[in-house]
Amino acid sequence: MEWLSSFYKHWINHLCVTNCFSIFGTHKKILNMEAFKGSIISKLPGVGTSIFAVMSKLAVDHQAINLSQGFPDFPVSPELIDLISQNMKKGHNQYAPMPGLPILRERIAEKIYKEYQVNYHPETEITVTAGATQAIFTAISAFVKDEDEVIIFEPAYDCYSPAIKLNRGIVKYARLRLPDYHIDWIEVARMISNRTRMIIINTPHNPTGSVLRKKDLDELHKITKDTDIIVLSDEVYEHLIFDKKKHYSVSAYSGLAERSIVVASFGKTFHATGWKMGYVAAPANLMKEFRKSHQFVVFAVNTPIQYALAEFIKNEDNYNKLGAFYQKKRDYFLNLLKGSKFKPVPAYGTYFQVLDYSKISDKKEMDFAEELIKEHGVASVPVSAFYHRNDNHQMLRFCFAKQEDTLEKAAELLCKI
Ligand SMILES: Cc1ncc(COP(=O)(O)O)c(C=O)c1O
Repeated sequence: MEWLSSFYKHWINHLCVTNCFSIFGTHKKILNMEAFKGSIISKLPGVGTSIFAVMSKLAVDHQAINLSQGFPDFPVSPELIDLISQNMKKGHNQYAPMPGLPILRERIAEKIYKEYQVNYHPETEITVTAGATQAIFTAISAFVKDEDEVIIFEPAYDCYSPAIKLNRGIVKYARLRLPDYHIDWIEVARMISNRTRMIIINTPHNPTGSVLRKKDLDELHKITKDTDIIVLSDEVYEHLIFDKKKHYSVSAYSGLAERSIVVASFGKTFHATGWKMGYVAAPANLMKEFRKSHQFVVFAVNTPIQYALAEFIKNEDNYNKLGAFYQKKRDYFLNLLKGSKFKPVPAYGTYFQVLDYSKISDKKEMDFAEELIKEHGVASVPVSAFYHRNDNHQMLRFCFAKQEDTLEKAAELLCKI
């Protein structure tokens, strides 16, 4: 019987090796993926998993309240959702025109005119994008070439530098100055060379909540005039601005608008970050180049949502009340934290609040953020993650775009520390 047992073993082995099972009925082959055997030369060798994913996973693992990732936990307007489903039912489900639906571009142009009294031509100067991230990537790839220098301000939103590097540009890091995270324009002026192709600004600013003032735009204008520098202005939080501050858009600044690509995000404005919808506005000659890349990155973006947004943004109340709405949330969160040892850094915009924990711990930001999750049940993001050298200032970023009871629970835990 030994031959039978050996045959049997051989047969089982065969099954395991080929991952086949076909005893009865269908013959199915399961293929386990093997690693690529060639060499991989990473284009982004220093890049790992995004800090937002890391902190959110830790938050889930330790059942912590997640104030790390920047998204609201309250619903999207039912009217907007109805508009989308109506448009889907009407059959608006095929490709939109490459630059975006004409009706949406017209409404965006009207909205920009109402907000900043500037005319962008809907046909040639506005393009609808799959969120701001795609807009930023496309703008950088359209203009940044080998060895071109791009100035960004740290702490910086995480998508700028990888996009520059993927396009073989060189990132030049300027630092926002504490205590209020302002730009040191003397430093910026010194950094400009004949290879500077682009300066990326972000106002209101993620992660710090600082905002640019009129005099910042004056300085930007001064150092860029008579140069070929393009300004990429990330204004995704344009409507999330507090304390009667004004949002200074480069689009409203004659002399800067002509060299600027302005980026906006419907995801931020309408509590719908998962839809990835946004747009860019720029002078026609810059937009022409932008579209050359855009058409091969996404070609066109979500059609029914474009129809719905075209209708929804006709009503200014749908975005103009946002500042007051989020200011109330920020104030609510700050009030709850009054008895704590955390010191807030003034946040005039966005839905982020930076808290200084230097009275609590000497630990590095990443270590303290982990401790906060594991031992105290609240997830935040270390501001050091927004610096290429992970600078530490004992600051953590908390997202307050959350329902009141979430903020209450988080603040209660933070006050106990
Ligand atoms: C400053 C900044 N720019 C761009 C984006 C990306 O926006 P979107 O979700 O529309 O791609 C974000 C999202 O967090 C952001 O904070």
